[in-house]
Amino acid sequence: MLRGKSILLGVSGGIAVYKAAELVRLLVKKGASVHVVMTANAQQFVTPLTFQVLSNNTVGIDLFSVESESRISHIQKARLPDLVLLAPATANLMAKMAAGIADDYLTTILLATTAPVLICPAMNVKMWEHPATQRNLRILGELGHQVQPPAVGSLACQEEGAGRLAELGDILERAVRILTPPTLGGRRVLVSAGPTWESFDPVRFLSNPSSGKMGYALAKIAARRCAQVYLVSGPCFLEAPAGVEQICVTSALDMRDAILRLSPQLDAIVMAAAVSDYRPSQKLPQKLKKVAKELTVLLEPNPDILAALGEVKPATQVLVGFAAETEDLLKNAKDKLVRKNLDFIVANDLSRKGAGFCCDTNEVTIIERNGAVIDLAPMTKEDVASEIWDRVERLLAGVKN
Ligand code: C5P
Repeated sequence: MLRGKSILLGVSGGIAVYKAAELVRLLVKKGASVHVVMTANAQQFVTPLTFQVLSNNTVGIDLFSVESESRISHIQKARLPDLVLLAPATANLMAKMAAGIADDYLTTILLATTAPVLICPAMNVKMWEHPATQRNLRILGELGHQVQPPAVGSLACQEEGAGRLAELGDILERAVRILTPPTLGGRRVLVSAGPTWESFDPVRFLSNPSSGKMGYALAKIAARRCAQVYLVSGPCFLEAPAGVEQICVTSALDMRDAILRLSPQLDAIVMAAAVSDYRPSQKLPQKLKKVAKELTVLLEPNPDILAALGEVKPATQVLVGFAAETEDLLKNAKDKLVRKNLDFIVANDLSRKGAGFCCDTNEVTIIERNGAVIDLAPMTKEDVASEIWDRVERLLAGVKN
């Protein structure tokens, strides 16, 4: 995710400094090269050695150190990163930045750098809410800096409220987004995800084990690439990726209505949902009582949402389906590609280990309209999502030309 990216992590002095150590570990794990610069106050909480060991790079602490300035000057250090991440950013650091003060190593770099800056504040709730901090926040926004707001909860100072450093996963995702080229900028896309529930009484339903992970990964990657994303989701208990418009539905009929309402304005639709093919013919108003004999539930077919989309597909829209099969994968997938008028189809062999429902990885074959069959190696669902959007982008570019 961050391979080849250079991140300068500025650490200022608050109790959340210990979390910044974990952040370094996560950034390094994602492939980034991390250079840490600490303020004098930050060093009161955690020693530079911790950050040096975790980042495998020397830590910047002293603007006037003859030794470190001769190795790499603060100006060079300001030129180096693809992103400057400030975590935790104290009220004091934000105030200095807003005023353009450069009186130590970190603030000097901040004035000299042209890299994007992501500020992750952490402080006492009263300090966060203070009009001076809020004014500085506005100024920092006007200066073009981005802010990952603090989380709300119990604070180290025994108070409750906004001021906790944002969750590290959220900081990481925000950093990845800033560093991802906006190749779907200006595009509106829709992803369907998860199973549908087809009720036959108020407490029972027919469904399948879809976790929604593939669809949510697709929504996340599209949002990273700056698309406007609608995520039409069956019940699947995953957190919607930041910045995505989640539309929660329950049954196939709800899902169809939500998707068809939006479809005319969309550049691309990826149907990753495992829509139930059937629904009970009637939904009982009360819970069905247990009886000591066989129970027959009559089913009727659900509409095929993807086929309906294929029938009305505008020439400029890219339509992608999934085919989850337990036998004759390629034959069935090719048939669906043509029958549902798709641009390409992503075929999953459900009998393979590490593919399909519930897992974090997938092993798929992409079949294109021109007959090309591309077997992708086993990879994470996020990587499969990237492969899918790469293809969608190419098709959109072709459609536009
Ligand atoms: O025909 P089959 O259900 O195997 O097709 C799978 C593809 O069609 C998936 O992309 C799925 O989201 C979509 N589908 C649909 N409406 C249905 C059934 C499947 O849109 N009722």
